[in-house]
Amino acid sequence: MAKISTKYVCQECGSISPQWLGKCPYCGKFGTLVEETETPEEVKGSISVPTSNPTLLKDIKKENYARIKTGINEFDTVLGGGIVPYSIVLIGGDPGIGKSTILTQIFGNLSKTEKVLYVSAEESLSHVKLRCDRLGVNGEHFTVLNECRLEHIEKISKDYDFIVIDSIQAIYLSDFSGSAGSVGQVRECASRLMRLAKSNKKTVFVIGHVTKDGNIAGPKVLEHIMDTVLYFEGEPQDSLKVLRAVKNRFGSAQEVGVFEMTEEGIKEVKDYNGVFMSEDRGAQAGSVVTQSISGNRCMPVEIQCLMSKTVFGLPRRMPLGVDYNKMVLILAVLERKAYLPFFNQDVYLNAMGGIKISEPSADLAIALSLASANKNVAVDKSLTAFGELGLTGEVRAVSFAEKRVQNAIKLGFKAVILPKRNYDSVKKYADKIELIPVSYVSQAVKKLFGENKE
Ligand SMILES: Nc1ncnc2c1ncn2[C@@H]1O[C@H](COP(=O)(O)OP(=O)(O)OP(=O)(O)O)[C@@H](O)[C@H]1O
Ligand SMILES: [Mg+2]
Repeated sequence: MAKISTKYVCQECGSISPQWLGKCPYCGKFGTLVEETETPEEVKGSISVPTSNPTLLKDIKKENYARIKTGINEFDTVLGGGIVPYSIVLIGGDPGIGKSTILTQIFGNLSKTEKVLYVSAEESLSHVKLRCDRLGVNGEHFTVLNECRLEHIEKISKDYDFIVIDSIQAIYLSDFSGSAGSVGQVRECASRLMRLAKSNKKTVFVIGHVTKDGNIAGPKVLEHIMDTVLYFEGEPQDSLKVLRAVKNRFGSAQEVGVFEMTEEGIKEVKDYNGVFMSEDRGAQAGSVVTQSISGNRCMPVEIQCLMSKTVFGLPRRMPLGVDYNKMVLILAVLERKAYLPFFNQDVYLNAMGGIKISEPSADLAIALSLASANKNVAVDKSLTAFGELGLTGEVRAVSFAEKRVQNAIKLGFKAVILPKRNYDSVKKYADKIELIPVSYVSQAVKKLFGENKE
């Protein structure tokens, strides 16, 4: 008989070690290795039979995968146009951000025509009922199950087509060691759910909690099992929430949806143009708007900067919504190439509305926002900028320049600073908006604030 083997799995990175160690040799974290036993197939008593035969491509029957609408347009957009039947979708986010709320609403809509099962492993039935009442969810076929054991969930789910697991960290498999929420359990439960979706033709939504550093607890191992991974982002005190696709096998992974948390639940924000920029932005120094592309849409995002003199020790660098390293890099470029001093200044940077900007095209707007705060000169509110910055101070071309310029025109901007190499593709709009092509960041700074000598 085959031996039951023991392995030690790191709870942070999922790496496997044959013996217990105080420090994970892969990610370097201390005290994260947990013992797991693995029961071989023959011990479990199952006979190994292939479940699928090789099939010629021409013989595979085409199935009708018409997307199913959730009733929330923003959510459909993030999914790439609606739910793909028999797919498995993970929704991650900080505690209390609204993961259960949005899925209750969606399943409330679906329950009008489909058989849905809401598996609440974290909350009691009466708590779910309380939320459903608040959200006005009263579908006739909305079924709630309070169960943590995956084997039972699998059995019960036979009669349903759409299933929510709230949450993956709260369910467990009894023939697998480790407590609920451990990497091993999360990974195993996720692959069982994936099989449930694919083999039994169910559409599964899985809720996952996020760790302190922003990853879904039970880390990357979970993400590659899923068809689609969505993250709910937003500051806890802010009612605006952004749903972002980070992986999508059936659509763009660049899509974002903007929502607002209200007493009646999550509402989609249709006119998101005013969400990420303020009306009185031209009054104070340090504010510049960029045109950011997410999936198929372009939205204006205001970058704000505040500077204050460093009183003691090293100057502070504090970005919100912008990567720390990117901010430090742009500061260095401005110091060297535009001769703007930041060495004795604390710098605070913010992308408005709680959105996270990772696009390189926002570099120029970040640089101009920093320069504006440094010079203490406000930038005209009718000006917008986009372009990628290189370490030599050059402004590099970005993709979708035409879309960005079109959006700026639509929103009533009067001038746009853009990379010179993008100029040819947008010069046809010169009669609608002033185009200011630049090759170097120093040119843009000079244009707005005058020249700075070394
Ligand atoms: N009566 C209410 N009025 C307005 N907002 C409410 C009300 N009740 C709850 N909320 C909002 O709903 C949020 C909780 O939503 P939800 O339970 O869906 O979050 P979650 O992401 O599932 O959290 P968890 O990770 O703890 O399960 C709260 O943060 C709160 O902002
Ligand atoms: Mg919840």
